[in-house]
Amino acid sequence: MAGSMKLSTLPILLLLITCLPSSATGSQDQESFLYTGFAGSNITLDGAATITPAGLVKLTNESFRIKGHAFHPAPVRFREAPNGTVRSFSVSFVFGILSSFGDIRGHGFAFFIAPTTDLSAAFPIQFLGLVNATNNGSATNHLFAVELDTIQNTEFGDIDNNHVGIDINSLNSVESNTAGFYNDDSSSREDDGMLTNMSLIGSGPIQVWVEYHGESTRINVTLAPLGVAKPARPLLSTVYDLSGVLTDQAYLGFSSSTGLSTGHHYVLGWSFGMGTPAPVIDPTKLPKLPYLGPRPQSKLLEIVLPIASAVFVLAVGILAITMVRRHIRYKEVREDWEVEYGPHRFSYKDLFRATKGFKDKNLIGAGGFGRVYKGVLPKSKSQVAVKRVSYDSKQGVKEFVAEVVSIGHLQHRNVVQLLGYCRRKGELLLVYDYMENGSLDNHLYGQLQGKATYLGWRQRFRIIKEIALGLLYLHEDWDKVVLHRDVKASNVLLDKNMNGRLGDFGLARLYDHGTDPQTTHVVGTIGYLAPELVHRGKATTLTDVFAFGIFVLEVTCGQRPIKEDPQGNQLVLVDWVLQNWHKGSLADVVDAKLQGGYDAGEACLALKLGLLCSHPFPQARPSMRQAMQYLDGDVPLPELLPEHFSFHMLALMKNESKVYSSAMPSYPSPMMTSFGSISDFSIHGR
Ligand SMILES: Nc1ncnc2c1ncn2[C@@H]1O[C@H](COP(=O)(O)OP(=O)(O)O)[C@@H](O)[C@H]1O
Ligand SMILES: *[C@@H]1O[C@H](CO)[C@@H](O)[C@H](O)[C@H]1NC(C)=O
Ligand SMILES: *[C@@H]1O[C@H](CO)[C@@H](O)[C@H](O)[C@H]1NC(C)=O
Ligand SMILES: *[C@@H]1O[C@H](CO)[C@@H](O)[C@H](O)[C@H]1NC(C)=O
Ligand SMILES: *[C@@H]1O[C@H](CO)[C@@H](O)[C@H](O)[C@H]1NC(C)=O
Ligand SMILES: *[C@@H]1O[C@H](CO)[C@@H](O)[C@H](O)[C@H]1NC(C)=O
Ligand SMILES: *[C@@H]1O[C@H](CO)[C@@H](O)[C@H](O)[C@H]1NC(C)=O
Ligand SMILES: *[C@@H]1O[C@H](CO)[C@@H](O)[C@H](O)[C@H]1NC(C)=O
Repeated sequence: MAGSMKLSTLPILLLLITCLPSSATGSQDQESFLYTGFAGSNITLDGAATITPAGLVKLTNESFRIKGHAFHPAPVRFREAPNGTVRSFSVSFVFGILSSFGDIRGHGFAFFIAPTTDLSAAFPIQFLGLVNATNNGSATNHLFAVELDTIQNTEFGDIDNNHVGIDINSLNSVESNTAGFYNDDSSSREDDGMLTNMSLIGSGPIQVWVEYHGESTRINVTLAPLGVAKPARPLLSTVYDLSGVLTDQAYLGFSSSTGLSTGHHYVLGWSFGMGTPAPVIDPTKLPKLPYLGPRPQSKLLEIVLPIASAVFVLAVGILAITMVRRHIRYKEVREDWEVEYGPHRFSYKDLFRATKGFKDKNLIGAGGFGRVYKGVLPKSKSQVAVKRVSYDSKQGVKEFVAEVVSIGHLQHRNVVQLLGYCRRKGELLLVYDYMENGSLDNHLYGQLQGKATYLGWRQRFRIIKEIALGLLYLHEDWDKVVLHRDVKASNVLLDKNMNGRLGDFGLARLYDHGTDPQTTHVVGTIGYLAPELVHRGKATTLTDVFAFGIFVLEVTCGQRPIKEDPQGNQLVLVDWVLQNWHKGSLADVVDAKLQGGYDAGEACLALKLGLLCSHPFPQARPSMRQAMQYLDGDVPLPELLPEHFSFHMLALMKNESKVYSSAMPSYPSPMMTSFGSISDFSIHGR
């Protein structure tokens, strides 16, 4: 070590310069040395002892029953003159013992002064590489040692397995004590200072001071953790005249050994002073002890580390939980076949954000198939209506999504634009353009709190025409026939300009032109279902026309297709209109809320067209194109009499009544009210 070399070689250099002739004895008069680490030093090693790359002297290795020694290379002269007394000297060193296997203890080690560096005859294990079984206790050993023992050997009278002892010629200590140090704390003077126990193993670097006073022949041994100032009261203090022990010249060194358990004995720094205090070892310049198993920790680390790791674990836990929750919250169902629908696919996360987590505040309506939420898409900032539809069967989802996507291609000013979809387990989310003015039924029946503005006739007639246009577009103006299947006032939505738009394609089914329409279970809303749809479950463009007819009557009369009067009788709108027509008072059915403010010709046209469209006999109904022409006045409505409906109804009953009654056994006969033939179809239409 640079520091030690400076101090140890400086006196030699001075001697060489000042008194060259006596330079031969110069090395023997060397009075002090200092090793701050041992890297590059001229220390003499034997056995398993090595200098680690970090500059520590490591006395033993992991092998069993081995010894290791480290010596200051030059002997030290302990007497002023031959046969004189041993002079005062002072030694200080810093060591660390690490245990290889947790609590399994290795043997300790010793600082010693011996006449020779040849300790090849000494035994390892409990002899610490200092003596053997025959020369233990022999005065010819000229051995002085301070043992730092970590195993209790009863044959040597050890007091415990963590003690410090002063040994003369044998391993039986003349004085020993449990390792520790006396606090200098003046406040505890009454106890004469408390002994603070210290574990030799694993307590980090420990500093030892060994002092001998030549005149009083007192030997003091003091321990303290590295960095703690030398305690005033030594751990061991005994009187033993070393003049009878040490040879004139002797070597200073460290010794250690292993038995069946190994330890790691490190010396970090070392200083010696003959007749002077040992040079101070600067703890900050010492090499660090390697980390092996539990490492001594500073108080700060002891507190900060557990807290830091707890915080870390907590943070990781929270992160994991939020990620799992996010994953579950935004989990979607996505399959390979959906790839082609990519652009129409919305991420659930976006929809979740758009609707503020599907909050009740954003709920704008609940239909028969799910709840509808208002939302603002995070990216485009456009307003949307998100409809959550639950479905149970995996079957048909593919077809359904295909439909949804192809419906997304539909674009018409009288059709609510479907923007896309998202699929989750058991749930489908349909995203539509948001319609500011809500659904038509709310306006018709004044359910809008505050703005109970009833629609005037001009607006109503316009909306009827617009819905006719929208339906015509679905039926004819596209490469596929699209059936709406659920035409009704609550599925007619009004945009911000009060334009009527046909909405809610959740139930629509597609089929190609010409192919036979597939038969499915009945979908739609009671009151708008064509009789043949109820009986055969066959949806056609004409079943849509039927529902449109009911819708037209509804808008004109301002009444629901079926309602209960205060007496609990069910009133069927079609019956009622026909009844009035029979009586010649057709004008009475027009919505009273209009207070006569309507065009009589248009209203009459609407009522007759409504009846014609909702004719029980499908063949009697016009197509949407024809209906459009009638509404525009391009083609006059055929001359109709109420009897036409009765006649058709009778024919219908003759031909199909058996089918009807067997298909609908649950419909009670009391429903066959006043208007016999007509009420029959109304019942089925419910
Ligand atoms: N695109 C939309 N824009 C604004 N409101 C809508 C939209 N779609 C549906 N709504 C509202 O949600 C309600 C329920 O819709 P829906 O589920 O289609 O009803 P239903 O199943 O009874 O036909 C409607 O009455 C309407 O007020
Ligand atoms: C320990 O040191 C001895 C030499 O003293 C050597 O023979 C042995 O291989 C070493 N063991 C290990 C594990 O390094
Ligand atoms: C190292 O020590 C040996 C004796 O063990 C001695 O001969 C040699 O001169 C010393 N070298 C230095 C550089 O101190
Ligand atoms: C030292 O003492 C021994 C015996 O105690 C004696 O033989 C020897 O001559 C003495 N040497 C000196 C230099 O006094
Ligand atoms: C013990 O050590 C002494 C001195 O070093 C030696 O003479 C003797 O032979 C050793 N005894 C054994 C049993 O090794
Ligand atoms: C070692 O020597 C000491 C001192 O002579 C003696 O008391 C002790 O019994 C010896 N121990 C052994 C194990 O030889
Ligand atoms: C220190 O160790 C000794 C011996 O093991 C024991 O008697 C004493 O109680 C210990 N003191 C403290 C403060 O732990
Ligand atoms: C040993 O310690 C005592 C205090 O317990 C002190 O009075 C004495 O001077 C010390 N001796 C040496 C050599 O340091």
